[in-house]
Amino acid sequence: MVQTASSPTAADEAQRRDQTWVYFNGRTCQYADAKVGLMTHGLHYGTGCFEGIRAYWNAEQEQMFVLLMAEHYDRMRQSAGVLRMSLDLSTKELCDITLDLIRKNGFRENIYIRPLLYKSSEIIGVRLHDLPDGFAIYMTPMADYVDTNGISCMVSSWRRIDDTMAPVRAKCTGVYINSALAKSEAVENGFDEAIMLSTDGHVCEGSAENLFIVRNDTVLTPPVTDNILEGITRRVVIRLVQEDLKLPVIERTIDKTELYIADEVFLCGTGAQLSPVVSIDHRTVGSGTPGPVSKALQDMYGTIVYGRDARSKEYVTPVY
Ligand SMILES: Cc1ncc(COP(=O)(O)O)c(C=O)c1O
Repeated sequence: MVQTASSPTAADEAQRRDQTWVYFNGRTCQYADAKVGLMTHGLHYGTGCFEGIRAYWNAEQEQMFVLLMAEHYDRMRQSAGVLRMSLDLSTKELCDITLDLIRKNGFRENIYIRPLLYKSSEIIGVRLHDLPDGFAIYMTPMADYVDTNGISCMVSSWRRIDDTMAPVRAKCTGVYINSALAKSEAVENGFDEAIMLSTDGHVCEGSAENLFIVRNDTVLTPPVTDNILEGITRRVVIRLVQEDLKLPVIERTIDKTELYIADEVFLCGTGAQLSPVVSIDHRTVGSGTPGPVSKALQDMYGTIVYGRDARSKEYVTPVY
């Protein structure tokens, strides 16, 4: 049983992590017993793919809701195929393992679930073919990943990878060096997040979030052919804008200066949830506070993920 404490120390956190039940290469064990060797291929060459799934604890209902779990495992299977790996378990089996793990850990707070498929060979040699895979699922408590009350962004000097260089629509571990460079540059320069452009100078996305702008009551987002990750939250947002807010959504290439003149800009992702951007490169976005479209979407998203909306069952799976 995972302990919860109001202000745990680093030692408490480490102990809690070590005692967390994980799935590791076909068995359930505690985190501290799930070890990989120093020569593991995925560690050296970034030959792995992963997912990030959130589960939300609804205290009134004493229930945990996992958000869009099957969708994440389906995307992971696609990522695996691109990397010449195979996810041998069906999506249903993966979902069942995940639900069992949450129950075994007894979490009663918001958590983040991380399935990881990686090349497990302990050999030297850069390639994808003829290498065995390892597979793990672990989970950890997680509050907000980025501030949801309005963040500042910089347009990164790092360009988002192009699909001709590495697969942009697969969540490959190795390509996250691109996101890490952009995120650290932004934070170390005093901003909250980075916005990355494509190699041809068009707006792609945040370091780990898809991007939307609002101009004249129209919601715009880069198309999936503009080197973005095909985000699962992005699909939810498009649906909510069209069906609930009744505003048009246009997927089209976005120029950098459109960011500066937009009425609203927001980022979205499983980790980031829905995060309004209130300044970009020291220019105020809209009124400098989260705009009406961003706020309405944040409210709807928050209601759905906590299982409080009539439509929640289309999005979430109860655990207990
Ligand atoms: C690079 C990148 N873009 C976008 C997203 C948002 O994707 P999703 O909504 O599927 O979490 C993520 C999050 O995983 C990401 O890492």
